[in-house]
Amino acid sequence: IRLLRVKEVVAAKAIGSEVIVAGWVRSMRDAKELSFIELNDGSMMGNLQIVVDKNNFSYNDTLREVSTGASIKVKGKVTASVGSGQEIEILASFISVLGSAPNDYPLQKKRHSLEFLREISHLRSRTNTIGAVMRVRNVVSFAIHQFFQERDFVYIHTPIITSSDAEGAGDMFQVTTIDMDKKGAGEVDYSRDFFGCKTHLTVSGQLAVESYCIGLGQVYTFGPTFRAENSNTVRHAAEFWMIEPEMAFYQLDELMAISQDFLRYLINAVLEKCPQELEFFNERIKPGLIENLRTVATSNFSHMTYTQAIDVLKNAIANHGKVFEHPVEWGIDLKSEHERYLTEEHIRGPVMVTDYPKEIKSFYMKLNDDGKTVRGMDILVPGIGEIIGGSEREDNYDLLKERMIAVGLDVEEYGWYLDLRKYGSVPHSGFGLGLERFVMWVTGMSNIRDVIPFPRTVKHCQF
Ligand code: 4AD
Ligand code: MG
Repeated sequence: IRLLRVKEVVAAKAIGSEVIVAGWVRSMRDAKELSFIELNDGSMMGNLQIVVDKNNFSYNDTLREVSTGASIKVKGKVTASVGSGQEIEILASFISVLGSAPNDYPLQKKRHSLEFLREISHLRSRTNTIGAVMRVRNVVSFAIHQFFQERDFVYIHTPIITSSDAEGAGDMFQVTTIDMDKKGAGEVDYSRDFFGCKTHLTVSGQLAVESYCIGLGQVYTFGPTFRAENSNTVRHAAEFWMIEPEMAFYQLDELMAISQDFLRYLINAVLEKCPQELEFFNERIKPGLIENLRTVATSNFSHMTYTQAIDVLKNAIANHGKVFEHPVEWGIDLKSEHERYLTEEHIRGPVMVTDYPKEIKSFYMKLNDDGKTVRGMDILVPGIGEIIGGSEREDNYDLLKERMIAVGLDVEEYGWYLDLRKYGSVPHSGFGLGLERFVMWVTGMSNIRDVIPFPRTVKHCQF
């Protein structure tokens, strides 16, 4: 008989049949005549109960090696469970221990803190929480491709090593060469560039994907992104994954519409494909999560301009006794506390903020007729703040060049980017969604370190 996964055994409920199933022991309870083993193989939330009737079992020596953390293979009969909590269980006729776990196994049957689990990032995949997060992350990643593929977008692999700095702002990680010959001689030259060219790890695939947008029409990139900003917060990572679509002929209105459709599509995918995981998060991590996701998936996002947002914040101070740490004036970059007020107290849901002052946004955003604001769009959500940043792009050659000079970019070096406006320029728009921030939103997890398999954050790079 074929080796089954726990999920298959539980789903089939084939009472009376013989099965072979393997997994890791979550817990082992030894009573006088019976032993109970909770078996988990990562295929689902929850465990499969294995019952051993010691008086009718020929492998009681093997049974003594079974402990929390060990990996075992079990042969037995599917029976209806008399205990509560599960419909079926396996009455074992044979058990073999594939790998035992000494009693210094760090994951005992109790709730470990997320902080503790971060210190053992190589073992935490065996916990319910991290397992559920990673299954959700997987479903989201696949749904991202589905959304764009259903709409005939072309997936473009933009470079990781790059010589341009798309955002013109954040710090970057430089790429250097280590000469292994010299290293052998005890000399490591960390200062050498990429074959004589100054390069770093990409902060965004946008500029590169724009170049394919003007050839293929509708494209997206989805890959790792690196930022060396020294932000030690629960929503910043030095390495994160970003989804960046770029659409030719789209203006701000169309950008807002597709961004909202995209987020709702992803939420629906998680609601549909991860019901057990969501129940778990709803119960253990964030009460009200599921109801909230259902609401978001079925209602339109609120929209306000930056100027309106500033008015709302000023009104909160003047008329509702709200106190902010950072001053509120037209022209400021919205701080986390402002975003929280807008999404958690004012709107109580996601909000799209558009038309920001040009000074606080990137050089490539299209200037409005007022000469002061740009057609940028951020989507803010409760509990997290910004999850999407995007804009209509400046498609006018002269205006873009002017902006580049104003922010101190080398127009020679970015000549290729200006070319996109020189030959057959078109209105076009795009956005970037931070994958981890989205996963935080749908799971209710509050620290970005817990939604990344091996997080790279300020002062933290385990393995
Ligand atoms: O707003 P950002 O910096 O926009 C861009 O990079 C544009 N080039 C996107 C585009 O228009 N194509 O970043 C986009 C999103 C943010 O809204 C946030 O969700 C995420 O990327 N993000 C981060 N996520 C985790 N850690 C960080 N350090 C992040 N920085 C940005
Ligand atoms: Mg942004």
